[in-house]
Amino acid sequence: MGTPANDYEVMYGTEIFKTVTMLQIGAPGDDSLREVAAIMKDVTMEYFSPLEQRNEQILQYHNSRGDPRLIEQLCKFLTDDIYREPVDSNDLLINNGASAGVWDLLMRYLLPGDTVFVEDPAYKAILPSLQESEFNLAGIAMDEEGMRMDLLEEKISRTKMRTPSEKFPFAAIVYLVPIFHNPTTKNMSAGRKRKLVELAREYDLLVICDDVYNVLCYRCPESDDPETAKPPKRLFAFDDKKDPGYKGNVVSSGTFSKFLGPGLRLGWYELPPRMQKTHIDHYVFSSGAGKNPYTGALIGLALKKGLVQKHVRDTRRMYAERIKAAHDIISSTVGKLGVSCHLPSGGAFLWIELPKHISASDVLEASQNSVRFLPGQLASPSGSFKNCLRVCITFYELKDLLAGVIKLCGFIEQAIGSS
Ligand SMILES: Cc1ncc(COP(=O)(O)O)c(C=O)c1O
Repeated sequence: MGTPANDYEVMYGTEIFKTVTMLQIGAPGDDSLREVAAIMKDVTMEYFSPLEQRNEQILQYHNSRGDPRLIEQLCKFLTDDIYREPVDSNDLLINNGASAGVWDLLMRYLLPGDTVFVEDPAYKAILPSLQESEFNLAGIAMDEEGMRMDLLEEKISRTKMRTPSEKFPFAAIVYLVPIFHNPTTKNMSAGRKRKLVELAREYDLLVICDDVYNVLCYRCPESDDPETAKPPKRLFAFDDKKDPGYKGNVVSSGTFSKFLGPGLRLGWYELPPRMQKTHIDHYVFSSGAGKNPYTGALIGLALKKGLVQKHVRDTRRMYAERIKAAHDIISSTVGKLGVSCHLPSGGAFLWIELPKHISASDVLEASQNSVRFLPGQLASPSGSFKNCLRVCITFYELKDLLAGVIKLCGFIEQAIGSS
C-alpha cells in the first residue's frame, strides 16, 4: 500500500484510529452511516422487486439533468423541510457532490489568469488545488457578517479582470460558504448577501455558494427546535429572477454527503437559467448522460418514502445535542483562560479562538499529536489564524466526542500554562 492520501485512508487502514482522537474529521460517524445503510438496503430491495417494474433501466444511460423523480422529491424536500420557501425544480441539476460540482464550475467558466475570490479563512480542502492552478487566488477577510464586501470591492478595483464574452460570461468567481461557514461557523448577513449580488451583477462575477451545511440547522430566531429550525435564506434566493437587473450570477451547491453519506457521491446545483444549457450540453453530460443515476434513483425513493426526512430530523437533534454539550465544556473549562468559542446555530463545527499568543500548534505539541483538529492557519490563504482551531462534532457519538473535547481542553490549558 502507498502513502495514505487522506484522513479516511489513515483511519480505516491502521491502528491510529484507536489511539488518536480525530476531531478534524468533517463527516458523519459510523453510528449515523449504519442508519443510512439500513435506508439504502430498504429502498434497494423495494426498487428492484418486482423486476417487472422495469426499474433495471436505471442502470442505463440516463437523463442529463438527473432522474426527474429525484429532482421532484429533492425540490419538495428543500422547499418543505429545509428552506421553507419555494425552490424551483427547473433550477435543480444533479451532480456527484459539492467538491466535483464546484470544481467543474471553476473549470468551465474560468480561463488561466482569472481570479477566484475566497473567504479568509476558507474551506481548507479547496485551497491547495486553487494555489496550484493557473488562477489567481485572492483571500478576503471576514467579520461577524461574513466576507467583507468593502474589501472585496477594493480588491476588485485593483484586479485586472477579463472582459466577459458570450462563451465566458463571468470576469471572475467568488467562492464562499455563506451559511454555517467552514471553518468559522459564521453566517453571512442578509445585507452582505444583497451587496454581493449587487457587485456580482455590476462586475459580472459568478458567485459559487458551497451550501453544504444548510440542511444541518439546529436553531433560528423563530425556533429552538432542531426539527423545525430553518437556516438563513440562501444567497441564491437573493439573486431574484424578478429583479429588473437579474442576469443569474449565483449558484447554490448542495450535497447529500453531510446529512446522509459522503460515499453516495451525490449532490445538486441550483443553477440560473443561463447556465443550465451550457452545463447540460457539455460532453460530460451529453456523453455520460446523467451523474450517478443509480444512486440518485434510490435516494429519490428514500425521499418519497420520507426516510431521508426522518434521518435528517434525527441527525439534527443528535448534532444539536453534541454541539451544545461540546461547546459547554469548552466554555466552562478554558473559557476563563481567554479562549472563546461561539455556539453556532448549525453546521458541523466549533471554532475555537485561543489567546493571541498561543497557537494551535502549541496545543498539538502539548497533546503529542494524540488529539487532532484543524489548525486555523491551514484554512487561511494568508497564513493567518494561527491561534484558532476547528473541531468537528459529527464524527464521534456524544460520549466519545465529549471525552475528546475534555482531553483537548486539558491540552489547551497546558499550552496556555506553559506560555
Ligand atoms: C465547504 C465544503 N464543501 C465541500 C465539501 C465536500 O462535499 P462533497 O462530499 O459533496 O464533495 C465539504 C466537506 O467537508 C465542505 O466542508
